[in-house]
Amino acid sequence: MKIAGSVALVTGANRGLGQAYARGLVKAGAAKVYGAARNPAQVTEPGVTPVALDITDPDRVAQVAKECADVSLLVNNAGVLRYSTFIGAPSLDGARQEMETNYFGTLSMCRAFAPVLAANGGGAIVNMLSVTSFYTNPFNASYGASKAAGWSLTNGVRLELHHQGTLVVAVHAGFIDTDMAALVDVPKLSPESVAEQVFAAVEAGQVEVLADERTRTIKAELSRDQELIYPPIQEFWDAAVKGSP
Ligand SMILES: NC(=O)c1ccc[n+]([C@@H]2O[C@H](COP(=O)([O-])OP(=O)(O)OC[C@H]3O[C@@H](n4cnc5c(N)ncnc54)[C@H](OP(=O)(O)O)[C@@H]3O)[C@@H](O)[C@H]2O)c1
Repeated sequence: MKIAGSVALVTGANRGLGQAYARGLVKAGAAKVYGAARNPAQVTEPGVTPVALDITDPDRVAQVAKECADVSLLVNNAGVLRYSTFIGAPSLDGARQEMETNYFGTLSMCRAFAPVLAANGGGAIVNMLSVTSFYTNPFNASYGASKAAGWSLTNGVRLELHHQGTLVVAVHAGFIDTDMAALVDVPKLSPESVAEQVFAAVEAGQVEVLADERTRTIKAELSRDQELIYPPIQEFWDAAVKGSP
C-alpha cells in the first residue's frame, strides 16, 4: 500500500520512535495521522491529530477504533521496558506491565482495528517488536518474553487477516536512540531510520523489517542459538553476577 493518502494511527506517538513514525507519515503525505498517547497534550507534532489512548484499557481501545474508523495503517509502536530479570527482579510487576502493554495491548489493538482495516480495503498493521523477540538477555529478560509473544502474535494475526488483504509487518530492531535505551551506552539506530525502513516495507508489501546488522545476524543464527547466541551472553552475565556486590 502507499503511505501517501493513507490514514494512519500511531500508538505512543508523543515521544521516541512513535513521534518519528508520526512525523515521517506526515512528511510522506499520509492524508491523516492520528497520534495516540496516554497524555494527548504531549502530541504536538504539526499535522498530527492527538488521540487519548492507553493501549492496556480495552474499553478505550474499542472506542478509539470507532472514533478513528477511517484508519488504513495501524502502527502498534507503544511499549515498555522495565529491565527486569526473571529470577532476580523483586516482584512480577515489571514482567506483568511488559506483557500487558507489549503483548496484550498490541493484541487488543489488532483485534479492535481488524474490521476497520477490512472496511478500508485491507490496509496494514505494523507491530514494533525487537531483536529480543528472538533470544533472551537476562538484563531485559521479561521484556524479551513480551516481545517474543508479540512476534508470535504478529505471525498469527498475519495468517488470520490474510483473507482480508491486510499486510502485517513485524519490525525487529536493536537499540534505538530514544528514552527507552537512554541507559545503554552503545551505537544506536536513529528513530528516523527505523521509520523510513518501515514505510519502505509497507509500500513494498514486505512482512518483516530487520532494522540493523545485529538483528539480521541474530535472526540468521537462530537455528544454532545454543552454539552461537547464548554462550557469549552467558559469559557476560556470569561476569556481571560475579562483579555485583
Ligand atoms: N529504544 C529501543 O532501543 C527499542 C529497540 C527495539 C524496539 N523498541 C520498541 O519500539 C517501541 C517504541 O519505543 P521507544 O524506543 O520510542 O520507547 P520510549 O521512548 O520509552 O516510548 C515509549 C512510548 O510508548 C508509550 N506507552 C507505553 N505504555 C503505553 C500504554 N499503556 N498505552 C499507550 N502508550 C504507551 C509511551 O507513552 P508515555 O509517554 O505515556 O509513557 C511512549 O510514547 C516500543 O514498542 C519498544 O519496545 C525500542
